[in-house]
Amino acid sequence: MRPQLVRAVFCLAIAAVISTVAVPTAAQINNARVARPEVTLPTGPAREVILRSCTSCHGIDEYGYYALDRSGWDDIVERMKTAKSGLVEGAVISDSDKAVLLDWLVGSFGPETTPFPREYVPRVLSEADFLVDETAEAKLARTCEGCHNIDQVLDNRANEEQWRATLLDMVGRGAALPISDIEPLVEWLTRTRGLNPTN
Ligand code: HEC
Ligand code: HEC
Repeated sequence: MRPQLVRAVFCLAIAAVISTVAVPTAAQINNARVARPEVTLPTGPAREVILRSCTSCHGIDEYGYYALDRSGWDDIVERMKTAKSGLVEGAVISDSDKAVLLDWLVGSFGPETTPFPREYVPRVLSEADFLVDETAEAKLARTCEGCHNIDQVLDNRANEEQWRATLLDMVGRGAALPISDIEPLVEWLTRTRGLNPTN
């Protein structure tokens, strides 16, 4: 693990402990985890292909770092045929299985999706970045409602680090949130849904 990540995890863990002690009754987000993609196995036909051809050497979370078109994914799959990992000598995959796999890869991690940032460095906000409630709520509704009831999101309270980790986690799960929107939303969520019990 990269040293920055180790530090980040440690800080998140500490922040979680401190905030739990300070505000034990608030509905809190449990987020003491590393910001890295978490990719779930699909349920359709791609599932069998992945289990057959792709998981003998490594997991599938790494896919979340990519946003590639079909030929980009094809290049990676072709490269896996010659990759070696321990005793396993190269991925074995038929052309028909590869077509199924590429459909799923392009659908989930295609050029239109937001790749999970490898090293996330929060940018400094300028005045123009501060969101008014209507804009923030509209952005969240647009990007989060596909998977959640928005009220469920807005009922949460968390500190800045926790909101940031949650948004990055959601991007890793497929939320189509442009990276440039993350910090303005972190600021807005912390301002309006922070841990200060009076707001
Ligand atoms: C024989 C072992 C093996 C199998 C099976 C395998 N991989 Fe890999 N994979 C590797 C190794 C080793 C790396 C890191 C080195 C590299 O990228 O070539 C890697 C890296 C990757 C990466 C990161 C890309 C990159 O540029 O580093 C992706 C994405 C990936 N694999 C997807 C897949 C998919 C999809 C399958 C199924 C078709 C698969 N892998 C099957 C060994 C394997
Ligand atoms: C692709 C589906 C998907 C999208 C889009 C999505 N989420 Fe999530 N979200 C999930 C899943 C799955 C969980 C449950 C995670 C768990 O239990 O570990 C979750 C959990 C949460 C939680 C509960 C706290 C936590 O970390 O477990 C919050 C808050 C949240 N999401 C906020 C958001 C926000 C804000 C957005 C929009 C920017 C968003 N989500 C978009 C899938 C999604």
